[in-house]
Parts: sequence; structure tokens; C-alpha cells
Amino acid sequence: MKPSPDADADTYIHGTDPEEQARLTLLNRLTNPPFLAWLDPRPTDSVLEIGSGLGILAREVALRVPQGEVIGVERSAEQLAASPAGTPGLTFVQCDAHHLPFEESRFDLVYCRYLLEHVADPAQVVREMFRVLKPGGRACAQENNILVNAFDPDCPQWDRVWERFVELQRRLGGDARIGKRLYALFRQAGFSDIALSLQPEIHHAGQPTFVPWVQNLIGNVQGAREKLLAFGLASEAEIDGALSELRHLMTLEDAGAYFYWNRASGIKPKS
Ligand SMILES: C[S@@+](CC[C@H](N)C(=O)[O-])C[C@H]1O[C@@H](n2cnc3c(N)ncnc32)[C@H](O)[C@@H]1O
Repeated sequence: MKPSPDADADTYIHGTDPEEQARLTLLNRLTNPPFLAWLDPRPTDSVLEIGSGLGILAREVALRVPQGEVIGVERSAEQLAASPAGTPGLTFVQCDAHHLPFEESRFDLVYCRYLLEHVADPAQVVREMFRVLKPGGRACAQENNILVNAFDPDCPQWDRVWERFVELQRRLGGDARIGKRLYALFRQAGFSDIALSLQPEIHHAGQPTFVPWVQNLIGNVQGAREKLLAFGLASEAEIDGALSELRHLMTLEDAGAYFYWNRASGIKPKS
């Protein structure tokens, strides 16, 4: 089926232009190894990723389930067009996360990453995760709470624009701090054995991940520049000041960057 155009593209804070797709690819490179270790799929699992983006993570999961299958669902035609083809056991479907086109009790493992922050009704999406899981199956989510971000030395111009970024995402219908709501969302959807954890992003000058991590943060604000201006949430000067502060940070020999992702896993009870 030919993907239909992304009618909701304007509400997705990051957009899908080539610079943003490059940022998302970089973010995958940085964050996939620990995520895969945590997800820990079994070789025979039937797996669903909701909001699969460029399909980079889904492909890495598919390589770990050689006797199973992985389906990635994604709303954006642009993201699907850039997703990998030809990986055995891996397919992609265009749909909205709020209404999954699968029967109940279909999958052993359902996960989403960096998705719930963007959707209009995260509780409905988590209920859909629950519905399509087999009894005894596992759901996993890794999400943002972007204000836990800190640098040494402090970057006050960046912090101000970063707070406006949170407000922009709220106005677009999302929640940049949804990571701290994962326990409530999983509990209300009916999951048992809920386990919360963190994936740290701690990078210091001299480490090979430090500059890419800071570049990823810069890319978030660069990608949202037009929307921040259009909503009157930041001026050109404020955005430029924030970006140059982080570019300077990347040149310092003693700098550090501290962040974490929130994770939740839960089991669909057998009865
Ligand atoms: C930040 S990307 C994350 C992609 C991937 N999960 C990863 O970790 O690399 C979020 C993706 O969710 C998609 N998305 C946003 N809202 C959606 C919805 N309601 N239904 C399906 N996909 C959605 C966006 O188009 C985008 O590709």
C-alpha cells in the first residue's frame, strides 16, 4: 500500500526534513545499544514498535528475533519512505498509534520510544499497547522528561529556550515531560509487574559521545526554530544565543552533560 501524506506533520515538533532525519539517526546511534540490552527480545518473539520513525531501531530488533517478526507502525509517509527495506521478518505499516490495525493479543512484546511525548492522547496509546499484547506479554516505553537536562558549566541562555521548547510542544499537543508519567500511564492501562528505570546520558569532553550528544540537543532547537518564532515563544536573538552557548560548550576541555531517559516496562496479566 502506498503511504498517504502525513496530515499531522505540523503537530510533530521535530518535523521530517533531511536535517531532522540525520539528527534522529545520530540519536539512534547513541541510544540503541543500551535500549536493546534493556528490551532484550527473545529470538522467537512477535514484536511491535509503535512510532518506528526511520526504522533503525526496529531493524536492530529484527536482527535479534531471527525466528520471530517485527512490525513497525508509523504515521509519517516521509519516515516510512526512509525506513529500511529487505530485512527478513521486518515490515512497516502506516497508521496512527491511537488506533492500531491489529487484533487483540497479537504480540509477545510491544514497545515505543520517544513517541508518547508527541501523541494527543498517550493514555489511549498505552491502552492500545495493552490490547494488542498477548496475556503474559511485555510492554516497554522509553520517554523524555527534557527538563532534567544539566550542563557544566551552566548554560542559562540554552535553559531558557529549552523551557520554551517544552511550552511549544505543549501547544502542539504533546508533553516533553511525559517520562515522569509512565508509571501512571502503565498502571491505568492495566499492566502488572511495572518496573521503572533510567537510561543515563552522561557525557564529558574528550569522550567520543560528548559532541554528538550536544549536537543532538542543538538539532532539537534548530529543527523547532521556525515554530518557536511563529508561536512567539523565542526571538531570533534568544535562539542564536542558546545555540552559540552549546557550540561553545562543545569546545571546552572540562565540560559535562547530564540527562536521563525514563523507562517503564509492564506485563499484561494472564487473567
Ligand atoms: C522521535 S521519533 C522516534 C522514532 C523511533 N521510535 C526511534 O526511537 O528512533 C517519533 C516518531 O513518532 C511518529 N509519530 C508521532 N505521532 C504519531 C502517531 N500518532 N502515530 C504514529 N506515529 C507517530 C513520528 O512521525 C516520528 O517518526
